[in-house]
Amino acid sequence: MSKILVIHGPNLNLLGTREVGIYGKVTIDEINKELRSAAGKKKIGIEIMQSNHEGEIVDVIGKAKSSGIGAILINPAAYTHTSIAIRDAIAACGIPTVEAHLSNIYSREEFRHTSLIAPVAKGQVTGFGKTSYVLGLEAAIELLKKKNA
Ligand code: DQA
Repeated sequence: MSKILVIHGPNLNLLGTREVGIYGKVTIDEINKELRSAAGKKKIGIEIMQSNHEGEIVDVIGKAKSSGIGAILINPAAYTHTSIAIRDAIAACGIPTVEAHLSNIYSREEFRHTSLIAPVAKGQVTGFGKTSYVLGLEAAIELLKKKNA
């Protein structure tokens, strides 16, 4: 069975110390540990990457199909609101994708209310902190199973 690819976008490597009033004290390592454990319980393979570079994220998505990825969970972070390149990469790869955000992007500054990724994602989970990733992973696993059924 194919695997899930989790992508963390820019500045998410700083979780734990970054704007804790908004993102909380959870670290990226804690999130990844929980995702690995949840995937492991369901015997689903999982790959996780973080990048601060738009082109690197585009490259990883472009190679995902040939790397045996069957579903993507992505928090594009600030690129959510700016990156036509990541949106196009998701559309081009044809892999079902779930978008996740720790904070509720619709209750924050107006520039965060637009996601360029949402129209090419299967769905979006936003506002539940680490739980957004956990719920997003669950959705991605369902999409993976549906594809392999
Ligand atoms: C974020 C929300 C984005 O607007 C912001 O740029 C981030 C994190 C979130 O997870 O809440 O870096 O994607």
